[in-house]
Amino acid sequence: MSILSVENLGKSFGGIRANHDISFTVDQGEILGIIGPNGAGKSTLFDLITGYTRADTGKVTFDGNDITRLRPDKISNLAIGRTFQKLKPFADLTLLENVMIGAFAKETDIKAARDKALEIIDFVDLIEKRHHFARELSTGQRKRLELARAMAIEPKLLLMDEVTGGVDQKTIPGLVELILKMKASGVTIATIEHNINIIMEISDNILALDQGQNIAYGKPKDIQNNEQVIDAYLGRVDVA
Ligand SMILES: Nc1ncnc2c1ncn2[C@@H]1O[C@H](COP(=O)(O)OP(=O)(O)OP(=O)(O)O)[C@@H](O)[C@H]1O
Ligand SMILES: [Mg+2]
Repeated sequence: MSILSVENLGKSFGGIRANHDISFTVDQGEILGIIGPNGAGKSTLFDLITGYTRADTGKVTFDGNDITRLRPDKISNLAIGRTFQKLKPFADLTLLENVMIGAFAKETDIKAARDKALEIIDFVDLIEKRHHFARELSTGQRKRLELARAMAIEPKLLLMDEVTGGVDQKTIPGLVELILKMKASGVTIATIEHNINIIMEISDNILALDQGQNIAYGKPKDIQNNEQVIDAYLGRVDVA
């Protein structure tokens, strides 16, 4: 059963068609992997789904609700969480305080928000770092903070923008393991990811974008053999 349905979504910035006629669905409990070259429109798609950017055309339905023109806070309240490509923790607050801010979306009581934040920090395997300032954390640890902050709203759907981007090779397997642990906990996930090996490993379905358009959508093995995807993305990665 689909939890998210995107129909004919479109957004232009001046002459740039950042998203054009994008349609797909995400099933309850699955991981949808989203790939595409730089500037393909991947982050814009997340901005449209979460209300950070207003769509020119199309419709987004989540859990039976038309959320197309709702504000980001309303969409968050409906239990869509997201992480950002550019990490934005409060650098001078501790890990615990950062995650508590997320937890206040659901909890009004300070102790309850603190307990919930600690539980999530434990889930992302950073409990020893709970009193460290965000600025003291490594990039990989800040990625975990970002995931913890997003988990604090108790999302049914979590949109992740390049979780493994910009971290060193040895940090990647732990982050992949965490994504799979989130899936196992029942969260439906859509993840933007440049690392093709990871996307093939973790995705139930893959959406490939190029120049704002949906060029392929299907199972990993079909996407891997899709000529348009190879031309637009896989080929270019190989050359790089
Ligand atoms: N707020 C904005 N104003 C103007 N142009 C924008 C804006 N946001 C995105 N764009 C443009 O829309 C296109 C798609 O950008 P987007 O950030 O969605 O790509 P992306 O697939 O996430 O790329 P990357 O892999 O580099 O993160 C780009 O040409 C970008 O410059
Ligand atoms: Mg992006």
